[in-house]
Amino acid sequence: MAKAKTHFVCQECGSTYSKWSGQCRGCHQWNTLVEETLTPTLKSGARGWSVSEDSHQPGSRPKVHRLDRKLEQANDQRHRTGFQELDRVLGGGLVPGSFVLLGGDPGIGKSTLLLQMAGGLAKNKQHVLYISGEESVHQSALRAQRLGITSSQVEVASESLMENILSLTKDIRPDVLIVDSIQTVYLSELTAAPGSVSQVRECAAQLMALAKGQNIAVFIIGHVTKDGNIAGPKTLAHMVDTVLSFEGDSSYQFRLLRAQKNRFGATNELGVFQMKTEGLAEVDNPSEMFLEERGSDLMGSSVFAAMEGSRPLLCEIQGLTSSSPMAMPRRTSLGFDTNRVHLLVAVLDKHLDLGLSKCDVFVNVVGGLKITEPAADLAVAAALISTTNFQEMDGQTCFFGEIGLTGEVRRCQFADERIKEAEKLGFNHFVLPESNKKHLTKLLSKLNGNVVWIKRVAQLPAILKSLRQNNTSTKPKERDLF
Ligand code: TYD
Ligand code: MG
Repeated sequence: MAKAKTHFVCQECGSTYSKWSGQCRGCHQWNTLVEETLTPTLKSGARGWSVSEDSHQPGSRPKVHRLDRKLEQANDQRHRTGFQELDRVLGGGLVPGSFVLLGGDPGIGKSTLLLQMAGGLAKNKQHVLYISGEESVHQSALRAQRLGITSSQVEVASESLMENILSLTKDIRPDVLIVDSIQTVYLSELTAAPGSVSQVRECAAQLMALAKGQNIAVFIIGHVTKDGNIAGPKTLAHMVDTVLSFEGDSSYQFRLLRAQKNRFGATNELGVFQMKTEGLAEVDNPSEMFLEERGSDLMGSSVFAAMEGSRPLLCEIQGLTSSSPMAMPRRTSLGFDTNRVHLLVAVLDKHLDLGLSKCDVFVNVVGGLKITEPAADLAVAAALISTTNFQEMDGQTCFFGEIGLTGEVRRCQFADERIKEAEKLGFNHFVLPESNKKHLTKLLSKLNGNVVWIKRVAQLPAILKSLRQNNTSTKPKERDLF
């Protein structure tokens, strides 16, 4: 018998090679090449994926639509998923026929989210088929029951053979299909193991043809690798319309849903959920939740108004400095870029002579949040100055502004949204970059002079001191949060 032909496929980027090597030449990752048996070209693709089931037939004429003509079917009619947070992240509801990938760490709540979404869609008269390759029908049904989903519009099944999933879907004709997960389903035509690059790519191609050809919204769950990327080929992210990631720290209850790519809405939108014993619940006021445990000892703790997509979010930033016995003091940061901490420490040392070069510096964004905006610089600097100078912070002040290498404080975007959110939670003093002044003329009259404009980081210690003195002497009203 002739030996089956094999090739080596990189499990990170999908490049193929005839010989094994330790490093992939495409993505430069080590130990990612896996031997797979070559199979004859599949009906579905292998030469690429198709968005409709009947294309790829030689001689067939592609459908053309002139834009001045009305669409026969209102394709943009979106469905409510039952979670406003999810609707917003999807760009205003679920688009029929869309293909969505949801990634996240194991046990974060992906299956729970989609099962609850199925319940919500069913309430809005959508027919949902949930197929699990990881759990038995009994287990899925039990979970649904526990989550209070009892609709006849939701059907659950356990299957991992792709051909069976496709035929079942064509049979049942749901409006929404959920496949949990893409790494567990496989096509029998391919010899590669489930979860390998070729299986994931081909199964996704089949599901995409189903989504676009039959106008069924398809959700697939994707596992993530140890560095947080969705396992499988990069092409997977290109194929789908929307990539969502479900994040969170297992030691905290809350979960964040983000859109990394969205053909039907803005990315960087954020949905906040809380994992409870009865399933996931939406968090209406996340800022309040992130500041809930802010204590009364405010040394080294500042509040920053972050922007997550179009939504402002308040969070507490803590700083700690302590003299270090080591020649190379430590800089540790949780939830904030460590390189930025290095930069800020250097700027503070240069312009304020804080002596941080001999100190260990720790920065923490409370609640497991991750801040990527440079606008957080001012809040981080305020926390570090406060802890180094043993100077308590004023509890009602909110900071934002980017700090440059020459010590200047730079303008940041969405200043009015940030201020409005902070005001809602009882913050009445703001330290803002002076260059933001001209854009805030409307808000200024309302703020009654409670804004301190800052131009250079060197002004910050004096500002902190005067805020603290003014506010303790005038005794601010007790607010619920503090
Ligand atoms: P699950 O949705 O199975 O995670 P994933 O599909 O991302 O692997 O959620 C698993 C975790 O969620 C599990 O550790 C228990 C917790 N959980 C609750 O706290 N409450 C609930 O109602 C449910 C269903 C799960
Ligand atoms: Mg799961």
